[in-house]
Amino acid sequence: MTKLKRILAAVCAAAMVMAFAACDSKDTASDAAESTQSSVAASADENKATADEAAGEIKLSTDGKLVMATNASFPPYEYYENEKIVGIDAEVAELIAQKLGVELEIKDMEFGSIIGAVQTGAVDMGMAGMTVTEDRLKTIDFSDSYATAVQVVIVKEDSEIASVDDLEGKTVGVQENTTGDIYASDDLGEENVKRYNKGNDAVAALASGVVDAVIIDNEPAKSFVAANDGLKILETSYADEEYAIAVSKDNKALTEAINKALAELKADGSLDAIVEKYIPAE
Ligand code: ARG
Repeated sequence: MTKLKRILAAVCAAAMVMAFAACDSKDTASDAAESTQSSVAASADENKATADEAAGEIKLSTDGKLVMATNASFPPYEYYENEKIVGIDAEVAELIAQKLGVELEIKDMEFGSIIGAVQTGAVDMGMAGMTVTEDRLKTIDFSDSYATAVQVVIVKEDSEIASVDDLEGKTVGVQENTTGDIYASDDLGEENVKRYNKGNDAVAALASGVVDAVIIDNEPAKSFVAANDGLKILETSYADEEYAIAVSKDNKALTEAINKALAELKADGSLDAIVEKYIPAE
């Protein structure tokens, strides 16, 4: 995907104008497929040296390690299983680290702390089902996208809320500092939004009747709804998004190396295999 397209996708997501043809997610998906092919071609060996030189040296916060910041309360992308952080992001990051010839270390933190940690170089990258937005691009770079997502609305099964339009004047729960938080606060007014540390806390508040709805990414939404009785996801979605890896603007060589690794993982089917393991096709 070209930079312009990526920004357009981010703008579309941020402005929530899914109705615009330019934001059609099918276009975005086929563009992503095209760009995978072209970046594979571009990564042919003869081009490699020049690309690496142009971006300079890869800087790592700790020698021999790729340190990733995440917020591990976001299944199936990152969550704890037997005290270990697992999920799509954890596995993809592991393969990226392998390709870079270093060891992966995952640091769990609040979602809202990840960008700062990347920006200051405390960690090398942020991978947390993180949506590319225009605002975030002001402070950090994003790798190429590795997944698409949708912001959805969770309500109680017997809720009178039937579509996004019915959210007006209702109390909505979100995970703080996520795009769900940003959209809800912008569209419904901060006074109508309750911000929780974890998405699952927002869902618990919905189950106990403290909030009327939760706005959150589709895959965690499915997982939270499956774990709680009496909840459902509305058919009408809130916004289309793209996930990518956050890297410091001072580490272009790392972004380039991550993009090369991602292109290889897309081309050889490893990315699809990981996604299929965590999100079995229905
Ligand atoms: N995609 C949303 C965002 O970027 C939510 C991500 C939350 N991720 C997490 N690991 N808790 O704002």
